[in-house]
Amino acid sequence: MTASPTWDDLPLRPELRHAEPYGAPHLDVPVCLNVNENPYAPPPEVQAAIVEAVAEVATRLNRYPDREAVELRRQLARYLGCGLEMDQMWAANGSNEIMIQILTAFGGPGRSVLTFSPSYSMYPEYARDTHTDYIEVARNSDYQITAISALAAIEQHRPDVVVIANPNNPTGTVTDADIIKQILAEAPGMVVVDEAYQEFSCLDSSLTQLPRHPRLIVTRTMSKAFAFAGGRLGYAAAAPAVIDALRVVRLPYHLSSVTQAVAVAALNHADLMLAQVEHLCQVRDVAIERLRGLGLTVVDTQANFFLFGPFHDRDAVWAQLVDQGVLVRATGPDHYLRACVGTDDEMELFHRAVATVVASSTKGGSPQ
Ligand SMILES: Cc1ncc(COP(=O)(O)O)c(C=O)c1O
Repeated sequence: MTASPTWDDLPLRPELRHAEPYGAPHLDVPVCLNVNENPYAPPPEVQAAIVEAVAEVATRLNRYPDREAVELRRQLARYLGCGLEMDQMWAANGSNEIMIQILTAFGGPGRSVLTFSPSYSMYPEYARDTHTDYIEVARNSDYQITAISALAAIEQHRPDVVVIANPNNPTGTVTDADIIKQILAEAPGMVVVDEAYQEFSCLDSSLTQLPRHPRLIVTRTMSKAFAFAGGRLGYAAAAPAVIDALRVVRLPYHLSSVTQAVAVAALNHADLMLAQVEHLCQVRDVAIERLRGLGLTVVDTQANFFLFGPFHDRDAVWAQLVDQGVLVRATGPDHYLRACVGTDDEMELFHRAVATVVASSTKGGSPQ
């Protein structure tokens, strides 16, 4: 073997041999609407509280963090309300890590996880990495989960874990509480409702179902509405026994003192961190109307992003938008692009860029 081996020289797991690291392309352009972030920075008051929290924690960085993140979990329970207590909460480095912990505890070799496609593109990766069989049930043509197909698939596969993203990524579509209740009644294993975008929706959270369903896990994140993607903080609410199972599989000291302290500081200012959510929803709804006004189809969404198209060659349209300084995501159903809501100025540039693409296509010059 040479000093600089390729994967062919390494005893890599075969299923990883042709895999790429997950991630949307990051380009240095003025308008980044590709990863569903909140475009508004934490307000100065919260920035100051975060700096103060980091300064305080810096004095004891020689010590390991609180393994159980008790204070943070207490604050998360307080933030969610619904009568939740600290022992019903768990926290990790993004809800990505929470999901890996869930599948490590409840999935694994000989077990399966069932999801409703198209959905979040990390779900198959969590399954692959935890050696859990991955089962996809197609949503209908409106990207909805139907009770009939969900219940039939649960009956057929008896999955150990069912995951429902609500609102769903990349479609933004929502699933009625009634369908989730039917899935909860029939699923033989754990049911995870991934509410990463809940704060942008009119949905009743599945948190209200926790007292009746001991196998329900509701996951959330501070990365989206909460304007804290860089802080890497995801969390889950579930019965204490479920949380105890996640505690068994977590790495020791998985959540740094700095992460815990800055997340608590941000949670102490939840109202300020969430202050832009209503505005972002209004801007989203205006964007949908404007795109439809150009003759495009936009999927009904209750998240901070929207799927728009169809484009004959979406990769070419993606590139044309990049040329105009606007980065969106070529993901989800063929012929569609996904963009998240930016600041008002960013959205003006976005709309101008899309209008240019559409105008050039109607003149016969573009790949739309
Ligand atoms: C549906 C869904 N779940 C979970 C996540 C992960 O978020 P994070 O790991 O930043 O908490 C995302 C991120 O885009 C998402 O779209």
